[in-house]
Amino acid sequence: KASWKLKALLAAGALFAGLTALADPIVIKFSHVVAVDTPKGRAAEFFKQQVEARSKGRIKVEVYPNSQLFKDKEELEALQLGSVQMLAPSLAKFGPLGIKEFEVFDLPFLFDNYDEVHKVTQGPVGQGLLKKLETKGITGLAFWDNGMKQMSANKPLKSVADYKGLKMRIQASKVLDAEMRALGANPQVMAFSEVYQALQTGVVDGTENPMSNFYTQKMHEVQKNLSLTNHGYLGYALIMNKKFYDGLPADLKGVVDVSVKQATEYGNKIAKEENDKALAGVKASGKTAIYVPTPAERLELKKALVKVHDQMDDRVGLDLVKQIYKETG
Ligand code: LMR
Repeated sequence: KASWKLKALLAAGALFAGLTALADPIVIKFSHVVAVDTPKGRAAEFFKQQVEARSKGRIKVEVYPNSQLFKDKEELEALQLGSVQMLAPSLAKFGPLGIKEFEVFDLPFLFDNYDEVHKVTQGPVGQGLLKKLETKGITGLAFWDNGMKQMSANKPLKSVADYKGLKMRIQASKVLDAEMRALGANPQVMAFSEVYQALQTGVVDGTENPMSNFYTQKMHEVQKNLSLTNHGYLGYALIMNKKFYDGLPADLKGVVDVSVKQATEYGNKIAKEENDKALAGVKASGKTAIYVPTPAERLELKKALVKVHDQMDDRVGLDLVKQIYKETG
């Protein structure tokens, strides 16, 4: 009798465990470093809504914005270790991982507009780049836009000579290091979460970022001057821990894939608007003087910066650079 009771108890226990397994959603922790009100922040929230609705609650997406969970370098380590499942680091941050090719996107004056970027990110070159992540235990899902970068400091940045000797914060990219050096500035690699304070205390003099990052990090409070140089592109790779992605049940993998597609379309659609809104916000704040370079000044900047393409051929791969020139015309 005792053994019958025991069996019944065990069976009930197994059933209960089975039910809780059904009821317990799979959790995707998605960590990022920017504010919610940015192209990446909003695309991440959109992805969460899509996945949770389409999976009928079987997947829960927890988005951690603003470096709440991890800073730049730590977040990539956390992804590889599986402490988070998803990230969208900027393409300038893959070098330390050993993927140097992504820094090709940092080449100044490589793209004139989003259409040119999309020819690369949405075509075979982009697919090939995402594939490279697999050797690092990472699945590359998509490219997300932010936008064109602008230069800021506490003095007007008109001609190339104005950059001389300035300490400029950059992301961890050798191409960006070469870019700042080509202007005679001193590049300093620093995590995104530390930029505001570094500007405030004068640890660095200036920086580069698209308007959406500049405004939502309140850099306009600590930078007197901004020059609308549009000298380079900032975008992201949406990535997932490969073991986690491969281990998803087929139907849920489908949910993730469709949601990635939807969120990518959404994010890339709002990216320009978000940056335009941020520019308007900075203007309205009255705290940062905004300068539009003359065509001659922009040409001077371009001439100083395109040298970086030749300097960095070896690092990012000459073939890749040529392919991109071809695709963007
Ligand atoms: C930066 O570090 O400046 C950017 O990569 C931040 C971001 O994720 O947009």
